[in-house]
Amino acid sequence: ALQNSSSPRSVKSTGRTQYHLNPQASYKVAILGAAGGIGQPLALLVKMSPLVSDFTGPSELADCLKGVNVVVIPAGVPRKPGMTRDDLFNINASIVKTLVEAVADNCPEAFIHVISNPVNSTVPIAAEVLKQKGVYDPKKLFGVTTLDVVRANTFVAQKKNLRLIDVDVPVIGGHAGITILPLLSKTKPSVCFTDEEIHELTVRIQNAGTEVVEAKAGAGSATLSMAYAAARFVESSLRALDGDGDVYECAYVQSDVADLPFFASRIKLGKKGVEALISSDLQGLTEYEQKAVEALKAELKSSIEKGVGFAQKQS
Ligand code: NAD
Ligand code: LMR
Repeated sequence: ALQNSSSPRSVKSTGRTQYHLNPQASYKVAILGAAGGIGQPLALLVKMSPLVSDFTGPSELADCLKGVNVVVIPAGVPRKPGMTRDDLFNINASIVKTLVEAVADNCPEAFIHVISNPVNSTVPIAAEVLKQKGVYDPKKLFGVTTLDVVRANTFVAQKKNLRLIDVDVPVIGGHAGITILPLLSKTKPSVCFTDEEIHELTVRIQNAGTEVVEAKAGAGSATLSMAYAAARFVESSLRALDGDGDVYECAYVQSDVADLPFFASRIKLGKKGVEALISSDLQGLTEYEQKAVEALKAELKSSIEKGVGFAQKQS
């Protein structure tokens, strides 16, 4: 666990906004799976944040979780070439279930960031476990899809010769294959794409994880880029907890924006977790995007049901 104790009058620049840290703030972040490919650089990156200035935490899981505000879960096995994220279900479902049980017992009010794949199923598993323990708060459970946004922003900036820091592409749906849907028509700043560019970019963003898995040829999946993305999502959560009223991220959360119980969209983060789902992103979609939303629903629904079924069978 990393403990934050911010210094008085410190000012933090996020690239988008500046705000004053609360001098009384003191937060703890636990990374479960901290020895792994994602966990190691993630722990270092989170520790670099001006909101995190101390390190505490005994090795016991229960003790490590006590008093924690944000729990990040990158524990579990990664893919090898030829595998889908769903092929990780049999191993990672149990890992996530066990860890979330410990979270429920020791820090039920924490924000929970689930990175372990298949995210489309591990988040519903986490929700069921928290329900079984009587501590489920849908506003505080997040599937981390920040890497999809980081990739979308990067590929669009490269293609259109824009400064990366200026680009923001919402990515909705889920975190596997066609369930990853970048809304390129909603890119900020407004950018014109040809139909070919939209298709090429969409497929590249959807397959970026697989591209890394193939390039690593059996040595795992994306690690450093995921650590960067997870650190960004932790930082955003800490800023929201700290009272910043202007924090928006994409995440896979309990939702009612698309007739499915869980769906990734832009959300507004506040002190209590999800403050608002930005459903307006799903309005005024292009025909290509509308078709893609309809096409992803069956796969996402079945991944959600698989997670719920697993957790209910185990209870
Ligand atoms: P890794 O094998 O390098 O590290 C996983 C770590 O989890 C290891 O240190 C292992 O000891 C630990 N672990 C396993 N079981 C555990 C348990 N029961 N309790 C605590 N720790 C446990 O793998 P990695 O590359 O860091 O990837 C981890 C997970 O993240 C994979 O499932 C991968 O698919 C997923 N991932 C998700 C995204 C995303 O965008 N959401 C991106 C990249 C990777
Ligand atoms: C990613 O998108 O990089 C992760 O989900 C890991 C993977 O298996 O692709």
